[in-house]
Amino acid sequence: MYRSHTNGELRLENVNQEVTLSGWVQKVRDKGFMIWVDLRDRYGITQLIFDEERTDVDVMKRAKNLGREFVIQVKGKVIEREAKNQNIPTGNIEILVQDLKILNEAKNPPFTIEDETDGGEELRMKYRYLDLRRTPIREKIMFRSKVSMAVRNYLSQQGFIDVETPYLIKSTPEGARDFIVPSRMNPRQFYALPQSPQTFKQLLMVGGLDKYFQIVKCFRDEDLRADRQPEFTQIDCEMAFVEQEDILETFEGLTKHLLLEINGFEIEKFPRMTYEHAIKTYGNDKPDIRFGMTFGELNDIAQNKGFGVFDSQELVVGIAVPGCANYTRKQTDNLINFVKQPQLGANGLIWAKYNEDGTFKSSVDKFFSQEDLAQWAERLEAKKGDLMLVLAGDADKTRAQLSTLRMHMADTLGLRKSNEFAPLWIVDFPLLEWDEETQRYHAMHHPFTSPKPEDINLLKTDPGKVRANAYDLVLNGNEIGGGSIRIFDKEMQATMFDLLGFTKEEAIEQFGFLMNAFEYGAPPHGGIAFGLDRLVAILGGQESIRDYIAFPKNNSGRDVMIDAPAKVDISQLNELYLHLQDENQNS
Ligand code: AMO
Repeated sequence: MYRSHTNGELRLENVNQEVTLSGWVQKVRDKGFMIWVDLRDRYGITQLIFDEERTDVDVMKRAKNLGREFVIQVKGKVIEREAKNQNIPTGNIEILVQDLKILNEAKNPPFTIEDETDGGEELRMKYRYLDLRRTPIREKIMFRSKVSMAVRNYLSQQGFIDVETPYLIKSTPEGARDFIVPSRMNPRQFYALPQSPQTFKQLLMVGGLDKYFQIVKCFRDEDLRADRQPEFTQIDCEMAFVEQEDILETFEGLTKHLLLEINGFEIEKFPRMTYEHAIKTYGNDKPDIRFGMTFGELNDIAQNKGFGVFDSQELVVGIAVPGCANYTRKQTDNLINFVKQPQLGANGLIWAKYNEDGTFKSSVDKFFSQEDLAQWAERLEAKKGDLMLVLAGDADKTRAQLSTLRMHMADTLGLRKSNEFAPLWIVDFPLLEWDEETQRYHAMHHPFTSPKPEDINLLKTDPGKVRANAYDLVLNGNEIGGGSIRIFDKEMQATMFDLLGFTKEEAIEQFGFLMNAFEYGAPPHGGIAFGLDRLVAILGGQESIRDYIAFPKNNSGRDVMIDAPAKVDISQLNELYLHLQDENQNS
């Protein structure tokens, strides 16, 4: 038996018990005649004491040779500690060691394996198995397990069936590039890894397996960010005989359950907002509504006042930042530089202070009177002491820029509190999105999303105006889920492919299986997928998903621990009919 107890278990009640413990050596303090060791495992840390007067000489000698991260087993007696440590649950006791066995030695780790580490990101990723030994990382992985268990339990209690769908499939269009897998048995043919199980879950509905769910890996070859990984996990769901309202109810239920069970956070009803309203009021379709600073449009009151910068622009729009009227010149200059950085690309920023004494001071005092600025304040719902920030330009771009500035101000002012949760549904997305580059429409969600029945007549005349039966779940400014009511009629699906620029042949080649299935009695159906990594990170109070993934990839999509992707042997390529140049392989 390697252990009688874990390292997080022993308390004062256990004093005088003989115990056996195993674990890793976190820290050794050698005072010569006495040695203290912090012994760590998944469950916690227990202090060991080796005392010249009470511990066997050989054991003492072996203890002197212990290094960091050695794996050891000790036998000893639980005793009360003289100097108690209130910071850890086992802090009242220690183990007076009688026997010590070194189970495995360890090289000195490349960074300290403690809550605060000296290891940089790249190094910790290379030795991720060591990083996982650190409490903050381990806790995040365990937190993820808790969330995904809660999801499974809830959904299966609601009658959802867990069905696995294949990973080696044909390309599904979700807007990113596919990862491609060559087939040895089918020369020069390729599988694609699923960007999501979208078509399969729809086929499950045709197959009568109403109420499907799967916690499933999805693969997307897209540019990476803090909230994106090339392989990530979805809680993927689909239901038959449902309308949008049924889906929103069901998954609001799931989210409420998680917020309560995981975070002890109760919320009555999730607000709903149309896509159009979100864009106009927050500048994006995943607004963080934990704080105000909503947009106010100023065209009618700020244009034609002699300030040329505003006059020629499509949109003049601003926000009121609470309590920042006392910003110094340097601080307002910093904001101007912030919006001018190439990633944002604004030409400039106008500011106006609503002073505590009721007067205004702005960067455009030459053009705008106190009365004009009072009108701005009213429109932006500014109070005394607030700082108004205004941008002008092309409507879409300017809204996006102001949205970034709004989030920046909220971060600066500490308004994005990780223990506050503000979920909301965004509904009525446009069905299609015009792509300037390819000069054609793209599906905003995916090509299987149904248009709103009342907008179907616009499909032929004004496709850009058609709204979709599609919805996103947003939590604290992050899109954590998205879904739609699907097209289940072959004719409508064909119209959709046509609008998206597929020829009949292309549509049949790519999606013939789905169109065929629709000829055999497809039920009305719809669904949603949550990004599990994102959901877990946000419930855990963070926005970066990497720490919540046991073995994540870096920003270039590399796993630096196993060193992938990597070259493969030329013979392997030949077998797959991928004849690359020899020199490519050997360089
Ligand atoms: P969608 O493409 O919106 O919908 O994806 C659903 C959710 O998955 C998460 N997500 C990601 N998380 C981490 N890394 C990524 N690269 C990444 N990409 C997406 C997001 C997103 O909201 N088949 C449809 C769902 C449906 O219609 O039912 C789909 O995949 O949180």
